[in-house]
Amino acid sequence: MFLNNNIKVFSGTGNPELANSVCDYLEIPVGGAKIEKFPDGEKFIKLEDDVRGRDCFVIQSTCEPVDEYLMELLIFIDCLKRASARRITAVVPYFGYARQDRKDEGRVPITAKLVANLITVAGADRVISIDLHAQQLQGFFDIPVDHLTGELILSKYFRDKKIDKLTVISPDVGNMKMAARFAGHLGGELAIVHKKRVSGSEVEAEEVIGNVEGRNIVMCDDIIATAGTVCSAAKLVKKRGAKKIYVGATHGVFAGPALERLSGAGIDEIVVTDTIPLKEVCKKLSNVKVLSVAPMLGEAIKRIHRNESVSSLFNNA
Ligand code: R5P
Repeated sequence: MFLNNNIKVFSGTGNPELANSVCDYLEIPVGGAKIEKFPDGEKFIKLEDDVRGRDCFVIQSTCEPVDEYLMELLIFIDCLKRASARRITAVVPYFGYARQDRKDEGRVPITAKLVANLITVAGADRVISIDLHAQQLQGFFDIPVDHLTGELILSKYFRDKKIDKLTVISPDVGNMKMAARFAGHLGGELAIVHKKRVSGSEVEAEEVIGNVEGRNIVMCDDIIATAGTVCSAAKLVKKRGAKKIYVGATHGVFAGPALERLSGAGIDEIVVTDTIPLKEVCKKLSNVKVLSVAPMLGEAIKRIHRNESVSSLFNNA
């Protein structure tokens, strides 16, 4: 064990497998806590370990059911605060509501900001998250945020495949910078798809700018939710003569029609990380590969606990 007893890492019910892997990396047991649901749906948490004066981390992905896991996280933080933890870090590998980050039409909320406020008011001293959809979400918090990325894990996987005639594609304009960094890591050409959003779950890939004919494609995105974005882009580039198509995304939300869409989109491999547990239905897809963020999260937790640099984790990639 390379850490002392002053650190405690707890897990909500949002992603216990990931929490276990993080604690395995840290060589410490997951902190003891009883999490119960009352018959009326209310959650109740009781810590089974002493946390007084300790550096506490609670790992909770706010994936589906989003509101339930969010509330559980808030209760967990309150619980730690009232048990006199010295410092509380909310570790939110997948931050639900991140895409509701602006008022782009009248009479709508900015729920990502509301969630940031809730986590802060509950008593968190700092936050760790991964690929927050937009970098500026860090500014929604008035406490320190360690913003990690799954990009290096994904790009290393694709680099090891030694894909020739490679074009890296951003399936929409918003993701262009991520695609450019991928192309930098992988050494391929860069292309972009122009997408039109028809509704919350419907998109249309309208045009591709860049060279895709006769090329192998790595398409990267932060989130696959209904899979409309990556599937319509995949169909378009296939029509334009692309050969193999690989998709890499940090968060595999796989909601609504995702399974059906991904089954028929002609994608050779879909690679996501374990920020969200893979849904049972998606285990039916033989071309889904899950990479773990646990060593990266564990290393970040260790460094925060020891007051060491977290950004240097990404410097030598
Ligand atoms: C959009 O800005 C995001 O980067 C993703 O492309 C999008 O949220 C994915 O959603 P869906 O899978 O439902 O198209």
